[in-house]
Amino acid sequence: MYVSDLALNDFRSYHEVVLALEPGPTAFVGPNGQGKTNLVEAVAYLSTFTSHRVAADAALVRQGAPGAVVRAKVVHEDRPTLVELEIVAGKANRARLNRAPARPRDVLGVLRTVLFAPEDLELVRGDPAARRRFLDELMVLLTPRLAAVRAEYDKVLRQRSALLKSAGAARRRGARVDLSTLDVWDGQLADTGAQLVAARADLIDRLRPHVATAYADVSGGQGTARIGYRASVDQADDLPLPTAAELDADDGARVAAVGREDALRAAPAVADRLRAALLRVREQEIERGLCLVGPHRDDLTLALGPLPAKGYASHGESWSYALALRLAAYEVLRGDDGAWGRDGEPVLILDDVFAELDVRRRERLATMVAGARQVLVTAADAADVPDALRGARFDVAEGQVTRRD
Ligand SMILES: Nc1ncnc2c1ncn2[C@@H]1O[C@H](COP(=O)(O)OP(=O)(O)OP(=O)(O)O)[C@@H](O)[C@H]1O
Ligand SMILES: [Mg+2]
Repeated sequence: MYVSDLALNDFRSYHEVVLALEPGPTAFVGPNGQGKTNLVEAVAYLSTFTSHRVAADAALVRQGAPGAVVRAKVVHEDRPTLVELEIVAGKANRARLNRAPARPRDVLGVLRTVLFAPEDLELVRGDPAARRRFLDELMVLLTPRLAAVRAEYDKVLRQRSALLKSAGAARRRGARVDLSTLDVWDGQLADTGAQLVAARADLIDRLRPHVATAYADVSGGQGTARIGYRASVDQADDLPLPTAAELDADDGARVAAVGREDALRAAPAVADRLRAALLRVREQEIERGLCLVGPHRDDLTLALGPLPAKGYASHGESWSYALALRLAAYEVLRGDDGAWGRDGEPVLILDDVFAELDVRRRERLATMVAGARQVLVTAADAADVPDALRGARFDVAEGQVTRRD
């Protein structure tokens, strides 16, 4: 798919901008702080309802304006679809599909994007939350109905955590604590949580070969990238979690890891295990006022050869690993028909990535993505855009976006 038209009103620094885009590579070039990232951020927002730069939508609305509108025409094969989102800070988004009001969730999945940006270094270096977000966003792009499951899980988690906290406080006061409501929350947490665990485990299985290939391609064959799922339910069940070194050296450890992850892909069985684990850790949970088992405590593990990437990989290696994760996401989406029957290939967005890579990695990346249906690239310096990605070019300066061939 590709975006043929993009229009923004009061989004970030733009009062109004209208662009006609084409398939193939397009570069947005201009000095720092001129609005290049703002443009591609808007495109990505239409596909995920989230920004790679901020958690709250308020920053997306132009300073002083009541709300922002992002509108795009998305072409799947030859069929155009008009998608529109109105962002009002602090309120739910309003969506329109082909000019008719639609529920935001019906708009999810119409436009698929994969965005790679300097912020993605967090995927390798940051907390598990960044990696969970990576998995969950991709999972929702692939299966939009899981957005509702995720929202439900978050709600149950919040309420169960609040209950644990007040139960802990009551117990410390010496008051009697009625735990019957906790049983209800346990059941809901286990049922919704198991669906997320199963979807993530399945997704990791699909990503794994692509991550290995993409890392080998970007790095020129230096090091083997291997991803895995560390599930809190496994830890609660005392299942052995092999280290990167064991996985690298020991066939038995690898076979065991595959078996453990396979077991996570069956949601009903995971729900039973979660329920049992929650009962077992209940005392601890009440004491700490925290929910200790469930997908919110899980992680995507990243190994490079015998070592974990986090804490060991160099800057360049971490960067290449993050890139490999995004490229793998791209491949998984591309190979998936999705809700649209055909043409699941996402729009690829590379925000400011070439300046960070050495010339060889830059050329390799360009060659890898040059065949994509649409690639949007931002760069401060036109010379940083590799030749293989020469296509349409826009200059971005002082709030103006000007086509330059
Ligand atoms: N909500 C907003 N209202 C008004 N201006 C905003 C808003 N959010 C961001 N900006 C402005 O947008 C500009 C940043 O734009 P953007 O991040 O797209 O720059 P860029 O061209 O990608 O720069 P760089 O090359 O440094 O990455 C900043 O000057 C910032 O002040
Ligand atoms: Mg930028």
